[in-house]
Amino acid sequence: MTLNKPSVLLTGGAGYIGSHTFVALVEAGYQPVILDDFSNSHPAVLQRLEQLTEQPVICERGNVLDTPWVVEVLQRHRCVAAIHFAGFKAVGESVQKPLMYYQNNVGGLLSLLQAMETTECRSVVFSSSATVYGDPASVPIDEQFPCAPESPYAHTKLMCENILASLRTSDPAWRVGVLRYFNPVGAHPSGLIGEDPSGIPNNLMPYVTQVAVGKRAMVNVFGNDYPTPDGTGVRDYLHVTDLAAGHVAAVSALLAHGKSFTINLGTGEGTSVLEVIQAFERASGRSIPYEFAPRRAGDVAQYFADVSLAGSLLGWRAQCTMDDMCRDSWHWQQRNPEGYRTVTSSPPALQVPVPASSNVSARPAVGM
Ligand code: UFG
Repeated sequence: MTLNKPSVLLTGGAGYIGSHTFVALVEAGYQPVILDDFSNSHPAVLQRLEQLTEQPVICERGNVLDTPWVVEVLQRHRCVAAIHFAGFKAVGESVQKPLMYYQNNVGGLLSLLQAMETTECRSVVFSSSATVYGDPASVPIDEQFPCAPESPYAHTKLMCENILASLRTSDPAWRVGVLRYFNPVGAHPSGLIGEDPSGIPNNLMPYVTQVAVGKRAMVNVFGNDYPTPDGTGVRDYLHVTDLAAGHVAAVSALLAHGKSFTINLGTGEGTSVLEVIQAFERASGRSIPYEFAPRRAGDVAQYFADVSLAGSLLGWRAQCTMDDMCRDSWHWQQRNPEGYRTVTSSPPALQVPVPASSNVSARPAVGM
């Protein structure tokens, strides 16, 4: 623990949402501690985080399923809270490999909670997803809507929420913040950190950015016959820096008043696939070729959030527009055409001194 700064463990902190939350926590006066096995992230993110925050990054390399080691990490850094990002997140892959998803996502949370119980660190924020609502009967979706998960991935998220609810009931000392994300996109405005999917992107925004730089020929728009204004799927896209700010608000609220909550994080606005493509064309000045393709299995026509609870409980509200999201995605993609594998002769955006090395304690990955 850095003197006077409360330490917060970020499992999966080197990933897309974790790395942006790292920056927001530093700016808010916390000392984040990354725990990551780099199974779906790149160690180069650590140096970028040092550039951005102008301080050494604390990173513990290993797997959250290794409970005794997580106990050690929590104790060593005197963590007062944890944010659990570590988890697999590809819906299609979860259908192919359900055991891997249940073991990693549900087992990972259980391991973390056991370690937290041992060390009496009982404030936790959990990365859940709007996917727990399944195909909603109407929009906007508020937190009282019934949960109806459809994929193994969605089931793991709801199971984790239920585990946290049981724990809270068993011992009121537990403070639990469940955040149901809608569709996080965008990147840090510096262009230093962003989303770095391996292989062919599953999600719309990274696919569009790869078309814009010429890595892929065109966007396949999955379905143009949905009951939406232009026939394409409608989602609630949320800038990742707004999402990161939501995590800071959640941790701060738990530590301040201790009341548990489950809330949606979105903008409250729906945007269609064609509107995303048009916004990206405006932001990049490039034309984005697309063609209509059949609907993607498992997709719903539209969903967007009722975000009033996040406003009243946390005082949080998304600030960025779709144009901001596209501008920052484009900036990240242009500066890092190969993501974190991009070799840059000079730092890609900020010209600030880079500390000599990251504080990475090497540890072999386990489990999976
Ligand atoms: N889409 C395309 N072409 C593509 C990719 C996506 O047309 O190449 C469309 C989809 O059909 C959908 C929209 O773009 O209408 C958004 O699709 P994404 O894959 O970007 O996002 P999803 O809404 O399907 O899923 C995301 C996350 C899930 C999470 C869910 C919950 O990937 O993990 O949001 O909000 F569960």
